[in-house]
Amino acid sequence: MKIAISGKGGVGKTTIMALLAGELKKQGQKVLVIDADPSPHMAETLGIRDAKQVKPIAEMGVLLAERAGKTQGSPFYNLNPEVNDLLRDFMLEQDGIRLMILGAVQTAEGGCACPENHVLRKMLKKMLLTANETVLLDMEAGVEHLGRGTVAGADCLLIVTIPSRSGIRTALKIKKMADDVGIPRVYFIGNLIQDEQDEIFLEQELGERPLVSFPDSKAVRRAERAEQAILSIKEGLDDAPGQLVRQLLSQG
Ligand SMILES: Nc1ncnc2c1ncn2[C@@H]1O[C@H](COP(=O)(O)OP(=O)(O)O)[C@@H](O)[C@H]1O
Ligand SMILES: [Mg+2]
Repeated sequence: MKIAISGKGGVGKTTIMALLAGELKKQGQKVLVIDADPSPHMAETLGIRDAKQVKPIAEMGVLLAERAGKTQGSPFYNLNPEVNDLLRDFMLEQDGIRLMILGAVQTAEGGCACPENHVLRKMLKKMLLTANETVLLDMEAGVEHLGRGTVAGADCLLIVTIPSRSGIRTALKIKKMADDVGIPRVYFIGNLIQDEQDEIFLEQELGERPLVSFPDSKAVRRAERAEQAILSIKEGLDDAPGQLVRQLLSQG
C-alpha cells in the first residue's frame, strides 16, 4: 500500500506517520518512509541518526537519466536495496524502517521543486509492492502537492485535522482536491483530541466521523522536546496507531 498524508501545518502529519510506521513494522509490514517535506524532520521523529549521509531523491533524476536506455523498465520496480544497488545510497535503515528524503528546496523564494516532485511522482507510480510492503509519504502542509499531482500514485490519502475551524477548512479543501485527482481511498484522521466535545465538533464540521482519532498525548510532546523517537510510544494514545493500521489493512 502507498499511503500519503496531508493537512494544515503543525496538525501532526509527521507524528502520525512515524507512529504509523512503528505500528506497521510491529505488525510485520516492511515499511519505507519517504520524507517529501522541504524542511525534512522525519529522521529525528523516527530517531534515525546520520540522516545527513543519505542522498536526497532529487539527485536520483540524474541517475535515472543516465540509466534510461541502458536498462529495460524502471529501476524502481524493485525497492529492495540488496538487489537494487541504485537505491542503497538513497535509503537509511534503522530498526527495520527505511527512510528516503526528497531533498530540501534551498531558494529563499521557495523556488520550484518541480524536478524533485517529478521524480517522486514517477517513483510512486512505478513502485510495485507486495502485500506486506507499505510506503508512507510524509508531505509539507497545504494542497500544492495535490495540484502538482505528486500524490496521484498513492492508493490512500490520510487528511489530518485538529478540532479547529482552520484545520477543518484546510482538510475539506484537501478532500475535494483528492477526490478530483482520483485517489482511491481518502480518510480524515483527527489529532490532538482532548474530549468528546472535540470529537463531536470534528464529526459535525467534517460531515463524517474521522477514521481514527489520536488523543493529545503528553508522552508524544515530551518525546519531541527530548528529541527522542516517537515511533513506539503507546502512552496516552489509546491504541490509535493500532486502530489505524487495522482499518487500513482491513479495508485494503
Ligand atoms: N497526538 C499528539 N499529542 C501531542 N503532541 C502532538 C501530537 N501530534 C503532534 N504533536 C506535536 O505537535 C507538533 C507538530 O506536529 P508535527 O507532526 O510536526 O506536525 P506536521 O507534520 O503536521 O507539521 C509537534 O511538536 C508534535 O510533537
Ligand atoms: Mg511534518
